[in-house]
Amino acid sequence: MRNIQIAIDGPAGAGKSTVAKKLADLLGFVYIDTGAMYRAITYKALRQGISLDNAEALTNTAKDTAIQFVRTKQGRQLIFCDGREVTEEIRSPDVSENVSKIAQFSSVREVLVRKQQELASNQNVVMDGRDIGTVVLPQAECKIYLTASLEERTARRYHELLLKGYTEEYAKIRENLAQRDEMDKNREAGPLKIAEDAVIIDSTDLTQEEVLQKILGLLGQRRGES
Ligand code: CDP
Ligand code: CDP
Repeated sequence: MRNIQIAIDGPAGAGKSTVAKKLADLLGFVYIDTGAMYRAITYKALRQGISLDNAEALTNTAKDTAIQFVRTKQGRQLIFCDGREVTEEIRSPDVSENVSKIAQFSSVREVLVRKQQELASNQNVVMDGRDIGTVVLPQAECKIYLTASLEERTARRYHELLLKGYTEEYAKIRENLAQRDEMDKNREAGPLKIAEDAVIIDSTDLTQEEVLQKILGLLGQRRGES
């Protein structure tokens, strides 16, 4: 039997990773955070002083970097880059400001898309990102496009960063999200767009639990149909 693939796409701060993690836990699937992969390459490039305009060097970095996801017993998802734990570092404002530049290069995307497809080839997965339902897993049996208003997403990110000890201005976070949305939607390779067969969920006025229940309902429906 083919592995089960659940694809969740949408703009930053829509709640994709929060719900994807919960779904994966409930279903016993593996959660793959593709944004963390783009972030890990950005983090490494910044640390090594690789020019963010140098597509060739960035592509080689993507090829040569070992990215691993490890789930702790407590349910935390840790990200390792070349054996080093970088879970918190890759969420820093510095990485957030630069990640969409790197994600524009088609050659970088090709390398990461291949890695993502490999990860989904032999296990049941919940994968979130921007191009999962359209490019990475076009055959996914359940595709969700999760969105929320820019104000709501900014407020969520603001609180998240505060909890982590970063004091970023609200306006700056809003600008970063809006800029990333713009770049992610308008790039040529793997742009953020709604897959034809995706179900759109607007989480602006929904709790995390309500979003989760909607997706579970949808999955139940799909399974009943097949
Ligand atoms: O967590 P947040 O929503 O802020 O972003 P993320 O999912 O960690 O993704 C960071 C950036 O990586 C996005 O803004 C995109 O530029 C890029 N990305 C992508 O191009 N394709 C994906 N499948 C996932 C992320
Ligand atoms: O992965 P993505 O960037 O789409 O969003 P996230 O990293 O899951 O961040 C969403 C934030 O909004 C988290 O702090 C959640 O606690 C919160 N939130 C949510 O995920 N879903 C809601 N319906 C309401 C709030």
